[in-house]
Amino acid sequence: MAAMNSGLRSFVKSELERYRLALEDYILETAPARAEGVPSELFESMEYSLRAGGKRLRPALCLAAAKRSGVDEKKAMPMALGLEMLHTATLIHDDLPCMDDDDMRRGKPSNHAKFGETLALLAGDALFVQSLEFPMANLTGIEPKNVLRAMHIFAKAIGPSGVCGGQVLDIDAAKAAGEQDYVRRIAKLKTGALIQAAVLTGAALGGAKETLLARYADYAAHLGSAFQIVDDILDVTSTAEELGKTPGKDERDGKLTHVTVYGIERAREMAAEESEAARAALDGVLPQDDFLMLLPEYLVHRSK
Ligand code: IPE
Ligand code: IPE
Ligand code: MG
Ligand code: MG
Ligand code: MG
Repeated sequence: MAAMNSGLRSFVKSELERYRLALEDYILETAPARAEGVPSELFESMEYSLRAGGKRLRPALCLAAAKRSGVDEKKAMPMALGLEMLHTATLIHDDLPCMDDDDMRRGKPSNHAKFGETLALLAGDALFVQSLEFPMANLTGIEPKNVLRAMHIFAKAIGPSGVCGGQVLDIDAAKAAGEQDYVRRIAKLKTGALIQAAVLTGAALGGAKETLLARYADYAAHLGSAFQIVDDILDVTSTAEELGKTPGKDERDGKLTHVTVYGIERAREMAAEESEAARAALDGVLPQDDFLMLLPEYLVHRSK
């Protein structure tokens, strides 16, 4: 497939930036209410990681899918923030010494490096739970049955058969013995599940039918896979300054990644294949120049 032209590339870039800034504003705007009744050291630790930056990809996916289903950005914003809270919680836990043991995240000391392990553990727990409570309390002006559908999709994706399960598979590479495509299964859960939920919750808020949700699910599964393959590649090829996290860790820690299992050349091909499969999953559903159609390829060429 021909590389995306620079006009389309800058369109995707500016849309992502627009979604990112809207989310950053919403984080600041909702902070006073979110702080209510929370011990100040806990709130400080939660906000430290939530505000540390990041691409804000999951909110963008949710808001874009919501828009396509007729829900405007403002109304879907509590869901977008819930997704980012959950994502941030998983990053805090992922960096703990008992997991990936990384002292740098989003260009700053990781949560436990700054606040200690105990508070980091609890800030992660608190964000996990708030990621559900906040959208439930704040999604207004949307049909309750659509909110319920979206919240069920979200809760299922982040639990034992989703993100939590994937992180368990990730911590012990030895379990992979003999299983083909184990690394793909890890990625599907630890990363793919939330990326899929981001798209599906947005669509569900607008009352998308099951047949359409199935197309989006297929799209997001491939997108999530491409996203994690590139994360694995960047761990090998990028720098701490660019990534904002410690590179070279996967191999050092004996992680099973797309690079350690398939080699970097094959991993690159796989990322391109998955991105093309993502786009193809929405053929006939969205116009070819839609943000969601262009995003997979854009993300394959990202540098962080
Ligand atoms: C990092 O996610 C963890 C993975 C699931 C690969 P991101 O690359 O989206 O991290 P931020 O949000 O931009 O920091
Ligand atoms: C993280 O995968 C997935 C989750 C946080 C659920 P990684 O361990 O590869 O993410 P990074 O590279 O530390 O961001
Ligand atoms: Mg990890
Ligand atoms: Mg990690
Ligand atoms: Mg990684």
